[in-house]
Amino acid sequence: MLKRTLTVLWAATAMGAVGCGQGADDVESTEGAILGDALPGTNAAAFAAARANFSLTETVQDGAGPIFNERSCSACHSNGATGGAGQNIERRYGRVVNGLFDAMESTGGSLRQLFGLGGFNPSPGLNCQSGVDTLPAGATIRDSGRLTTPLFGLGLVDSLPDARFDTLASREPAAIRGIVNRVSIVMANPADASQRNGATRVGRFGWKAGVSNLGQFSADAYLNEMGITTSSCNFGVANRSFGTENRSNRAPTNALINGCPDDLVPGTDDDFATEENNCAGGVNELQDDVANFTFFMTHLAAPPAVPIAAGSAQDRGRTLFGSAALQCSGCHRSDPDIFVSTAAGGVQAGIVFTPYSDFLVHDMGTLGDGIGNTGDTVAVTRRMRTAPLWGLRSRNLLLHDGRTSDRGAAIAAHNGGANGQGTAAAAAYSALTTAQKSDLLAFLATL
Ligand code: HEC
Ligand code: HEC
Repeated sequence: MLKRTLTVLWAATAMGAVGCGQGADDVESTEGAILGDALPGTNAAAFAAARANFSLTETVQDGAGPIFNERSCSACHSNGATGGAGQNIERRYGRVVNGLFDAMESTGGSLRQLFGLGGFNPSPGLNCQSGVDTLPAGATIRDSGRLTTPLFGLGLVDSLPDARFDTLASREPAAIRGIVNRVSIVMANPADASQRNGATRVGRFGWKAGVSNLGQFSADAYLNEMGITTSSCNFGVANRSFGTENRSNRAPTNALINGCPDDLVPGTDDDFATEENNCAGGVNELQDDVANFTFFMTHLAAPPAVPIAAGSAQDRGRTLFGSAALQCSGCHRSDPDIFVSTAAGGVQAGIVFTPYSDFLVHDMGTLGDGIGNTGDTVAVTRRMRTAPLWGLRSRNLLLHDGRTSDRGAAIAAHNGGANGQGTAAAAAYSALTTAQKSDLLAFLATL
């Protein structure tokens, strides 16, 4: 439903967007930081207010539902600090027809919303039924899981120009080389003036790197996780991409939400019209809540790592992590010339960070989740983004479906068979001595 109550605290957003150049001014983003801190240069009041919005529990009156997975962003993203990973594992489904993935969009796929409001009264005298989003009988890929990922440091990643990812791919050994996943921008981030709807940008967010910027991910999550529709303005044009309710299994209008308003039916929803009228005159801004989520995530600092003493088990583990035999660092990358923020999107330029990911997708063989966009080949459905390992010690569940909390088991699971680009790494890990494994895990525990 349309978000009706808006918390406006947007005046402060331009602060913190001061570039400080690169080179001698470079700062380590993790120096003395605590998980959940803001990046240097962030306006503290704006950050606190944006975090509060991220944690706000939404009601039916706010527009939540009719079907949803949770009622606040932080209900899922909370491990370690607000914005962290979480235990919630989403469910996706689909099928393969003539060798191509079919998201079964006519049934509301591929993401399921696991809860419904049931009977609800958005206004006096209006009796509505949400229904429930069920797993359709024809789905052959059933309830594939997707664990909630952490959001720390992602503003730094959002600020990287596309060319950095091309460079990363070119540096990777052919056998494990990732693919730069260029996707269409559905909602340009107004804070980055270079972005345009419909233009391509490197997808870098989500388990499959399918989304190119944090603003779009916010509007998408608000709609698809919480059931709150929004309309934003891109260069004076209303962006309605996140303005249509999810109905249980994509029921036809008024069948299950009986007599209840659909935000996109003209004339039935004044608030929507008001939001869209706000676009007149070339306005380029996100809906207020979406803007707050975006601001919060953009300014969340990278997770702080534990310092490593020379000659320690952690130090030996770090060497193993980068060794030619294991090649962990071939995909889980921290190239210091690549991972330096720019001012695009509103963070300070020149912040060096170590995400232990290339944000590229790799064919992980049988470890892949089998989910894609309609029309993708089966090979594409096996592709997964290298999971960033920063902040690993604040995590419990691991891998895209949260199948384990054991780091050694997560490494062993890189064995995805003949197609898997992680298979050699898993084999090299299993060939380590017990002492070496213990050193490698000691290093991972510093992240
Ligand atoms: C029901 C649980 C749930 C809720 C509520 C939720 N998320 Fe998420 N979030 C997830 C899951 C699961 C993923 C991984 C999704 C994927 O890759 O397909 C995710 C991923 C993300 C990512 C991508 C992070 C990365 O690693 O690249 C962003 C950004 C994000 N969420 C923002 C939000 C915002 C903003 C809200 C509130 C509007 C929100 N989420 C609400 C579960 C949730
Ligand atoms: C070919 C690229 C590649 C190589 C090489 C590689 N990984 Fe990964 N790693 C991935 C991908 C992709 C994922 C996410 C897989 C999934 O869940 O579907 C991942 C996930 C992980 C995870 C789980 C993180 C999380 O957030 O759930 C850990 C831990 C990990 N890798 C450690 C290692 C270690 C240690 C090595 C070296 C022995 C290694 N990886 C080698 C690509 C790689």
